[in-house]
Amino acid sequence: MSLDGAVERREDPPAGNGNGNGAVAVVVAPPTGRPTYGDRRLRLNPNTEHKPERYDDLETEFDPSIFSSLERHLPPTMLEVPRDAKIQFMKEILARYLPEGERTRVQRHKEYRQKIMSAYLPLHSDLYNMEPTTFFMPSFIKAINDNTEESFRSIISEPSPGVYTFAMLQPNFCELLLEEVENFEKWVNAVKFKIMRPNTMNKYGAVLDDFGLEPMLSKLMEEFICPMSKVFFPEVGGSTLDSHHGFVVEYGKDKDLELGFHVDDSEITLNVCLGKQFSGGELFFRGVRCDKHVNSDTQPEEILDYSHVPGQAILHRGRHRHGARATTSGHRINLLLWCRSNQLFFESLPDPNRAPARAELLLRAVYSEFLQRAIYPRYLL
Ligand SMILES: [Fe+2]
Repeated sequence: MSLDGAVERREDPPAGNGNGNGAVAVVVAPPTGRPTYGDRRLRLNPNTEHKPERYDDLETEFDPSIFSSLERHLPPTMLEVPRDAKIQFMKEILARYLPEGERTRVQRHKEYRQKIMSAYLPLHSDLYNMEPTTFFMPSFIKAINDNTEESFRSIISEPSPGVYTFAMLQPNFCELLLEEVENFEKWVNAVKFKIMRPNTMNKYGAVLDDFGLEPMLSKLMEEFICPMSKVFFPEVGGSTLDSHHGFVVEYGKDKDLELGFHVDDSEITLNVCLGKQFSGGELFFRGVRCDKHVNSDTQPEEILDYSHVPGQAILHRGRHRHGARATTSGHRINLLLWCRSNQLFFESLPDPNRAPARAELLLRAVYSEFLQRAIYPRYLL
């Protein structure tokens, strides 16, 4: 079994100071006018009462949601300081936990996106702003607006526990998005641009976030997927989705043919077929497993085979084991949105009181892993 977007692991935790009592000490210069060492310890347990600021406008190598999640862990005195001081403080923490080599990769990707954004001319500018009535089926919009489990259940099928399907995208939207992807790929070829593929397993396809669709896909996740995942996947961060990786995959002759058995690097995965004409390409599901048991046997009741229908969405946990059978003729393109919860990650930090001696090491490793998860999936090639 291989893992979609499997992240590299760093063996050596970065340096830092820990006190093993529920806080992680970080050695950074204090923000202007801010006081002493003791005031600059991240709280292990998030302040859930605190409503973090939004950082969408920040242009840094980190996803803005990381700043919002991290803000809940700031020491109490830091919660009241001006936003700029908080940003500076958090940037220094994040930089400390991001090794040099990774910083270079982050910078390279930033430049990659900037190059695209400065030269690529979108074909359908309408796609770049969320317009529900032209994007989505009326039944889907109604269910989301009603926002109850009953309204969601009225449009979905659950062919196997934890796998939900529903009619989502308008045919015209699918067509425009396919044309936009084609246009982007033509541009890539014309200017001989070296494209980054979506993940470690797909050799074809494109990252939609890289050519300007990130804000639209953020809205799609926050306003249209989160209400459903809050009801159906609360235990895996369904109510706190705050970052995503959005891309298309392409199957057929001269493209990827099939996709091996794997799990996704996501809390929740939205997978919508965009077209075109094809046969084969069924998704197969084989139950949810934790990391330790990801290769264990499948029970008969966990077996599900699903045939794609253009416009039809399928929503499942990233850890729900699955794969795609060969697309035997034609050309199949699917939209994938790997939805993640950085908040869930921070909330699941271990309790150092249970193992004070190891807390520091553990926390450094966890932060390191968190940062890699936050930035790596876009840097896999
Ligand atoms: Fe997958």
